[in-house]
Amino acid sequence: MKLLLFVLLGYLLGSLPFAVIVSRLFGLADPRSFGSGNPGATNVLRTGNKPAAVLTLLGDALKGWAAMIIAGALGGDGTGIAAAGLAAFVGHLFPLFLGFKGGKGVATALGVLTGFSGWLALICAGTWLAAALISRYSSLAALVAAVTAPAAGWALGLSQEALSVLVVMGGLLILRHKDNIKRLLAGTESRLGGKKKGAG
Ligand code: G3P
Repeated sequence: MKLLLFVLLGYLLGSLPFAVIVSRLFGLADPRSFGSGNPGATNVLRTGNKPAAVLTLLGDALKGWAAMIIAGALGGDGTGIAAAGLAAFVGHLFPLFLGFKGGKGVATALGVLTGFSGWLALICAGTWLAAALISRYSSLAALVAAVTAPAAGWALGLSQEALSVLVVMGGLLILRHKDNIKRLLAGTESRLGGKKKGAG
């Protein structure tokens, strides 16, 4: 019963679409209407408004982390905490508040990694940053970090529940990037800091 509560709580928190909320607060165009159409920090950044993009990143990450912290504070064990984190990630991908059409989960995954281990989050954020600096593709950096996370989690000795969540999250994250992967292979993916089109 408690597990169901943690899953519901995580899902509802994850459903909060910070890209849309922050864009509205900043008077920016809805991120679903330009660029990649993705309600995420990378697409908000395409408006050229860095504070809005950073706030989106923080909000989307925080909700993943908060779901786990709250589950722990309510007496959740490792399974309950891991389930709350995974539910928040799924909530971001299929949010109740956006007709189940959400984002790709990179920032929320970072929050969940933080909930499992600060070191894991640092390693994966560092991997993302290095890959982004080298390639200037946010999507490619996310794909590299998604593959790194379960390996790093295993090296850090995380629990079986945590490793299972990392594998499932990584798989879903890769699936959500299928259009990015096609564009990367076709050489048409937009680079970080590239031209801003129709971003209002
Ligand atoms: O945060 C999602 C990122 O990996 C790709 O975003 O907007 O380029 O599809 P986008």
